[in-house]
Amino acid sequence: MKSVFYRLGYSIKRLRPVAATAVKANRLASADDLRGLLHVVDPYAGFDAGAYPEDLHGWGSESPAFREVILAQRPRLIVEVGSWKGASAIHMAEIVAQAGLHAEILCVDTWLGAVEFWTDTSDASRYGSLRLKHGWPQVYYQFLANVCHRGHQKRIIPFPQTSATAALWLRMSGIQAGVIYLDGSHEEEDVLADALAYWEVLAPGGVMFGDDWAWDGVRLAVSRFAREQGLAVRFVADKWVIEKPRP
Ligand SMILES: C[S@@+](CC[C@H](N)C(=O)[O-])C[C@H]1O[C@@H](n2cnc3c(N)ncnc32)[C@H](O)[C@@H]1O
Repeated sequence: MKSVFYRLGYSIKRLRPVAATAVKANRLASADDLRGLLHVVDPYAGFDAGAYPEDLHGWGSESPAFREVILAQRPRLIVEVGSWKGASAIHMAEIVAQAGLHAEILCVDTWLGAVEFWTDTSDASRYGSLRLKHGWPQVYYQFLANVCHRGHQKRIIPFPQTSATAALWLRMSGIQAGVIYLDGSHEEEDVLADALAYWEVLAPGGVMFGDDWAWDGVRLAVSRFAREQGLAVRFVADKWVIEKPRP
């Protein structure tokens, strides 16, 4: 049966239903519920942050848009797709802390870099900052160290995965977020796939926003996503913003 469908070019694969143990983000009792689902061992436990002096280089990481979106939404969970050294996640954590919100930030990143991080080996801010060791990027440890230096270990949860797999995990776990920040791959197909996948993770009434409207891939994909979903794109400072209507 399956092989006939496959030969005709159809997949009969369905997303598995939400696991029986699933929790809804808006019902999470504490950060530990989500943290514990992902990490049996605390990723920060025993980590030597002193080996990595603070380096919070990022791109558009301290935009006023973060404050405006977070204070308007007052989310329980923020998902960031594309965290790099943690500059934008830490900025969001500081807004959350200053506002006295009980929100966690889930950082989805492979910490392997996007394609532009590998195309110019003389680019110190991208290729150089991957800090290859035996050919494998070490930038994840710079992210962990930065979170520790700023004391946000209780607010920031790393999820070292591809954006696609992390979105699937979130859906299978029945977790939705009130705010989603997209800043992963800037290639058109990838941005469109991220927008579609994370729209399913966004709670009704929530906000999805992102960086780099000036990049063709981002602008084309986000415009197409909004057009096909019948949604409006608005702009706050340098970020594009799309709101998810309540049913
Ligand atoms: C522009 S950087 C993020 C910058 C960060 N938001 C900041 O403000 O400092 C893009 C990040 O996306 C990650 N990335 C790219 N494609 C990805 C994918 N398909 N899945 C997960 N992470 C990805 C890269 O590893 C990189 O760390």
